[in-house]
Order: sequence, then structure tokens, then C-alpha cells
Amino acid sequence: MELSAAQSFHGLDVPAAVLTEFTPPEAWAGRQAAGTLWVATDQGRVEAFLGATVHGDRLHIDEFAVAQGHQGQGLGRRMLERVVAWARDRAFRRLSLTTFRNVPFNGPFYASAGFRIWDPAPREIAALLAGEAARGLKDRCAMVMEL
Ligand SMILES: CC(C)(COP(=O)(O)OP(=O)(O)OC[C@H]1O[C@@H](n2cnc3c(N)ncnc32)[C@H](O)[C@@H]1OP(=O)(O)O)[C@@H](O)C(=O)NCCC(=O)NCCS
Repeated sequence: MELSAAQSFHGLDVPAAVLTEFTPPEAWAGRQAAGTLWVATDQGRVEAFLGATVHGDRLHIDEFAVAQGHQGQGLGRRMLERVVAWARDRAFRRLSLTTFRNVPFNGPFYASAGFRIWDPAPREIAALLAGEAARGLKDRCAMVMEL
């Protein structure tokens, strides 16, 4: 499913690994146990997921993916709204993520959902961006939504 979602990056200036590598399912078990893994299913198949991690009063979105055949139909926006509501209910103060600044369904999508570019970002977020740059990801930015 993650690889299906990633096919949207075909033709963009991304490292080949973005199109071929995926997180093993067991790596999500910790988020599932913590209640910070959301999935959308269709006839028992996972068609979208959002995995996040708690950092104090900030919830960080580690990964968000909608299977290619389901993209562009509002599922991602609805799922994000669900997560925002969940975080507000639990008195989180911020929602954060890193993403491609100019890919239409990344930076501009999140901006339309209420995120803003986080620059300067706190040290731990800057470290994430540095790690992404070291893996060859270009034009990345941190974004934050004040809850
Ligand atoms: C990003 C993603 C999760 C959004 O989910 P989605 O279900 O496709 O999103 P929605 O249908 O709710 O669309 C949300 C907005 O994104 C934009 N968008 C979605 N797909 C787009 C596309 N292919 N091209 C341009 N804009 C697009 C639109 O502006 C849309 O806004 P609208 O509601 O005003 O039409 C999904 O596209 C995806 O999995 N992409 C590949 C992986 C990825 O980029 N993950 C996020 C990494 S931070």
C-alpha cells in the first residue's frame, strides 16, 4: 500500500528508494499500541494509513499514505481531519511533519489544511530534515499546525 501511494512521486526529482522501499509492517506496531496509527480499509484491505508519534504536547506525523487508486477523492483530507480532532481532544498543542515543499499533494495540501512552514524548526525537527537531505531528498520542509 505504501509503495502504491509512492508511485505518485514518479517523474519527480526523488531518490529511487522513495519508489521502491517501504517500512516493514511490524515497524508500525508501537504506534498501533500507542493508538497513533490510523487506517482506512475497503473490504478488509488497508487503503490508507497515517502513523504518528507523541513528543510531549506535539504529535508528529511520521508517514501518511493513500493507495494510488484512492487518491484525490478526499480520503486523505478526511483522515487528516480525524487526526486533528483526535489530537485536539487530547490537548496536544501542535501537529508537525516534514514533507516536500512544492509537490502539490504535499506542502500545498498541508497548507490548505491549516499547516504552516516551520522555519526555524526546533532542533529535533531540523535533525529530521538533515537526515532526509542526507538520504537525497530535496526541497523538504517542516510544517506545523497549532492546535
Ligand atoms: C498526500 C496524500 C496522503 C493525500 O491523500 P488524498 O486522499 O490523495 O488527498 P485528498 O483527495 O483528500 O486531496 C487533498 C488535496 O491534495 C491535493 N491533491 C491530491 N492529490 C493531488 C494530485 N495528484 N495532484 C495535485 N494535487 C493533489 C488537492 O489539492 C486536494 O485538495 P482538494 O481537497 O481541494 O481537492 C496522498 O495523495 C498520498 O498518499 N500521496 C503519496 C504519498 C505522500 O505524498 N504522502 C505524504 C507525505 S508527507
